Amino acid sequence: MMNFVLVVLVVVVVVVVIDGCSGQQAYVNNKQLDCYKNYSNTGGYLCNNGADVSSCLSYLTFRSTPIYNSAATIGYLLSADPSQIAQINNISDVDTLPSDTLLIVPTNCSCNNNNTYYQHNASYVLKTTSETYFTVSNNTYQGLTTCQSMMAQNPYNYRDLLVGMKLTAPLRCACPTSNQTHAGFTYLLTYLVTWRDTISLIAHRFRSDESSILDANQLSSDDIVFPFTPILVPLKTKPTKIDSAVSPPPPPTPPTLATVPVGNQSTSSSKGVFIGVGVGGVVLLLFALAGFLFWFFRRRPNRHGQPVPDTSPPTTPPKGAVSYTTALPDSKSWSVSPEGVRYAVGSLTVYKYEELEKGTAFFREDNRIKGSVYMGSFKGDKAAVKVMKGNVSEEINILKQINHSNIIRLSGLCVHDGNTYLVYEYADNGSLADWLLRSKKKGQSQSLGWKQRVQIAYDVADALNYLHNYATPPYIHKNLKSSNILLDGELRAKLANFGLARSIREDQDLQLTRHVVGTYGYMAPEYIDNGLVTPKLDVYAFGVVILELLSGSETGNAIQKKRNGQDEEEEELLSASISQVLGGENVREKLRGFMDPSLSNEYPLDLAYSLAQLANKCVAHPINSRPPISEVFVILSKILSSSMDWDSSSYEVDPFT
Ligand SMILES: *[C@@H]1O[C@H](CO)[C@@H](O)[C@H](O)[C@H]1NC(C)=O
Ligand SMILES: *[C@@H]1O[C@H](CO)[C@@H](O)[C@H](O)[C@H]1NC(C)=O
Ligand SMILES: *[C@@H]1O[C@H](CO)[C@@H](O)[C@H](O)[C@H]1NC(C)=O
Ligand SMILES: *[C@@H]1O[C@H](CO)[C@@H](O)[C@H](O)[C@H]1NC(C)=O
Ligand SMILES: *[C@@H]1O[C@H](CO)[C@@H](O)[C@H](O)[C@H]1NC(C)=O
Ligand SMILES: *[C@@H]1O[C@H](CO)[C@@H](O)[C@H](O)[C@H]1NC(C)=O
Ligand SMILES: *[C@@H]1O[C@H](CO)[C@@H](O)[C@H](O)[C@H]1NC(C)=O
Ligand SMILES: *[C@@H]1O[C@H](CO)[C@@H](O)[C@H](O)[C@H]1NC(C)=O
Repeated sequence: MMNFVLVVLVVVVVVVVIDGCSGQQAYVNNKQLDCYKNYSNTGGYLCNNGADVSSCLSYLTFRSTPIYNSAATIGYLLSADPSQIAQINNISDVDTLPSDTLLIVPTNCSCNNNNTYYQHNASYVLKTTSETYFTVSNNTYQGLTTCQSMMAQNPYNYRDLLVGMKLTAPLRCACPTSNQTHAGFTYLLTYLVTWRDTISLIAHRFRSDESSILDANQLSSDDIVFPFTPILVPLKTKPTKIDSAVSPPPPPTPPTLATVPVGNQSTSSSKGVFIGVGVGGVVLLLFALAGFLFWFFRRRPNRHGQPVPDTSPPTTPPKGAVSYTTALPDSKSWSVSPEGVRYAVGSLTVYKYEELEKGTAFFREDNRIKGSVYMGSFKGDKAAVKVMKGNVSEEINILKQINHSNIIRLSGLCVHDGNTYLVYEYADNGSLADWLLRSKKKGQSQSLGWKQRVQIAYDVADALNYLHNYATPPYIHKNLKSSNILLDGELRAKLANFGLARSIREDQDLQLTRHVVGTYGYMAPEYIDNGLVTPKLDVYAFGVVILELLSGSETGNAIQKKRNGQDEEEEELLSASISQVLGGENVREKLRGFMDPSLSNEYPLDLAYSLAQLANKCVAHPINSRPPISEVFVILSKILSSSMDWDSSSYEVDPFT
């Protein structure tokens, strides 16, 4: 009995000592995204890091893609032996694998000739002009190598890459250190982290333990790991075919809160049982939240809008007006640091200032789209570059978490000289406001047709519905107006400018603000009067946008010149004029008069009437009379499908007879 206790104690002590020993190889920590800077951990895993051997058998992992989808093609890409790949994964050489099958690839790993890094050399011939050191290392090799190490080991400057060039891809691998050997580990496997991974999931998958993985990568348990980065997994025996071969596909929306793993630890195929992601997601979200708190306390007036003087919140706010469920953690006292921005970067491209200068021709005047937004061209792709002063982590954090085809995508950023440069997807057709203005000036050759207008309204409703009901956490855009609705090459709408957006928090039924900012004409009355912030704010503004689409009203202020009489002209808010149009006598004439003349009667009056009614509901003054965006979206989808069937030459249904 005594002996047994002693043995247990010794084992515990030994385990603790081994666990406590210092780390071996530094994790890349997302530094591989910053291609034009050398970091100590991006070159590769170091040879002289306590290892006894200069070469060994090691294992890489690779996820099959539509191009590299068999042992033969993957072996070719990774300079590995296809028959060994086939054997270890229990497939044949030429089996075509479903995409995203996680494969184990045995390779020889050795120190390169300068005795600096362990690596397995693969070679890759450039196939298209759009390939760069970054895309080859991140996308083709899935993070098995880094752009920094490729740049260091290839003679070509990144600007001089040409199709047909043969590049060395030093794939990251490592041999066990003497400490790992003593602990019984014989191999190191280079695993590629993907969405939803956690260290414990990885440990479970390879029957390893968490602490030795943390140790092997110089990580501590509260560090974050990022998708598309390699991590070393120490193994005691040769790995075998991975059971849950197909990893979960990347989520449609970026990381949500990590939930406690619900997978029963006794099953090895825990595929699909994890909701959310690992520590990375949590920290990201916390930083997002921190960004919000920061922004909440020091917001500046919107440069483009017309600030309205501060108003005090009412003493007894109406209770229970709105309530939402979100996955946001309780607010804690987090502070925003430059690190926060770094974590926020995630999968965004980090540009060098010189690249931006080159892409925008030194921010030349004729590349200026509007205000501080410039058109740029990067690797042949057009982009919009927005120059912003001060802290913009809130907008970055929001757009990073949002993934919707009707919301403008943020693709990269650059911080230089106190300014932040945000690089967005480019919308070829500019803003809706410009279109409406142009149709006034140039006549109908440049104006939007009925179907296009309905499509735009539908797209915006889709985006808002996503923001209010499906994003985690949900958001209120707060600054919806036609100049923030951009149109792509197909005239499909994309919502932009999230500088004022804020998340909907579950711990409060409603939110009040003392700083009422926005654009007159689009702001809901309860917001102007009381600073009340609810998603119905967006519904109101959306109603105004529909009215603009119908009437072709001037941009920005959403004010229509009231045509009463011949020469008398009076300015009136669109939201006020629509109820007069739809009420009382002669609705048909009044509606025809309200509609954009540049449509020149080429629209179905019944559908125009339905749309006007919908807009009228959206701009209702009592907040509870306004429909939720989900309802608006459903109605719009009906109007859209009827509009698509509508043919301008067909018989006109008159709703008023
Ligand atoms: C990074 O290191 C490589 C060689 O080690 C060198 O050629 C390259 O210029 C370095 N890049 C930078 C930005 O320092
Ligand atoms: C190996 O472990 C010992 C303690 O057991 C530690 O002092 C040493 O730094 C470790 N070596 C390496 C390379 O991690
Ligand atoms: C390998 O695959 C075959 C079918 O292709 C199956 O019968 C066999 O059990 C598998 N072996 C292992 C070890 O999974
Ligand atoms: C490693 O090299 C040895 C000797 O050159 C060779 O026999 C073995 O097949 C190689 N292993 C792999 C996985 O390529
Ligand atoms: C891999 O490539 C590097 C540089 O391209 C070279 O120094 C090294 O010797 C190569 N390693 C092997 C095993 O061929
Ligand atoms: C070889 O390594 C040494 C340091 O260990 C470094 O100073 C030298 O630049 C390296 N040479 C090459 C060709 O990478
Ligand atoms: C890196 O590659 C993955 C696919 O392997 C891709 O999903 C991801 O967007 C890439 N990251 C960047 C910054 O392009
Ligand atoms: C795990 O499985 C065991 C027995 O198979 C069961 O008793 C236990 O409730 C399961 N746990 C979870 C979290 O499902």
